[in-house]
Amino acid sequence: MSKKTAIITGGAGYIGSSIAKRFAEQGMQVILFDCNQQQLDKISSETGAMGMVVDVTDYAAVSEAVESVRTQYGTIDILVNVAGGSARSEIRPFALQKMEVIHQVIEMNLYGSLHCIRAVAPFMIEQQSGVIINFSSAVALGGIVGCADYGASKGAIIAATKSLAMEFGQYNIRVNCVCPGKVQRPDAQPADVEGFVKRYTYLNTLANAEDVADLVEFLASEKARCITGQNYVIDNGRSLGLRGDKNRTDC
Ligand SMILES: NC(=O)c1ccc[n+]([C@@H]2O[C@H](COP(=O)([O-])OP(=O)(O)OC[C@H]3O[C@@H](n4cnc5c(N)ncnc54)[C@H](O)[C@@H]3O)[C@@H](O)[C@H]2O)c1
Repeated sequence: MSKKTAIITGGAGYIGSSIAKRFAEQGMQVILFDCNQQQLDKISSETGAMGMVVDVTDYAAVSEAVESVRTQYGTIDILVNVAGGSARSEIRPFALQKMEVIHQVIEMNLYGSLHCIRAVAPFMIEQQSGVIINFSSAVALGGIVGCADYGASKGAIIAATKSLAMEFGQYNIRVNCVCPGKVQRPDAQPADVEGFVKRYTYLNTLANAEDVADLVEFLASEKARCITGQNYVIDNGRSLGLRGDKNRTDC
């Protein structure tokens, strides 16, 4: 059987590189799109993936890169849209936020994913098969002060996932979304993690990139062949219930 070809955007980042490792271990041909050349080189050499410097906010660049992947490998079986983020250093009250930051956040998270889907869709339709996995965030479910632009972009991708699943199902293309809460990084301070878990989550732990890769691996596999249009929340229960319920003892 020929190798599956998977494009992972944001593949040089924390979660994207973990998915890249997982797919490479399964013998897939992995292609990483990322705008961080240095990190891309590092992750490509660690995983054997092919790294391509692509800014996903630039549709012409995305389209050209997707064409070249298709020419080189013949198929595009899986697209995982991980590239994104909240522009943390620029978080401020919305009434004071710079319009350029609002545009950047929405372009990176929403347009970046839509560009990649638009570019791969004709090939997947021609193949009559494909898997698309988008990345949202628990911020889209419950909101966070200072993150209206990020939340809007991540909410919109959940909505797009549903419509695309309805449109692409007839071509045997599945479209799903992964929605992490806070994901623990290797350099996280134990006291910070403990404080966060105590305050916000219902399971006594945080997810790491490996946990997210487990979910992506499942959604990309034949085991999920009947699943489309869904948003999978991986947040240790953070988005459940009302704030303050966690420590109730009278129930
Ligand atoms: N880490 C978390 O706690 C968390 C929680 C919820 C959702 N998410 C979402 O998961 C995804 C990955 O998060 P992460 O923690 O791995 O972030 P990260 O910052 O480690 O990785 C993001 C990667 O995307 C790349 N990128 C950013 N803009 C790009 C662009 N325009 N074109 C191409 N590449 C671009 C960056 O270079 C980086 O390598 C993001 O979409 C994020 O919003 C993360």
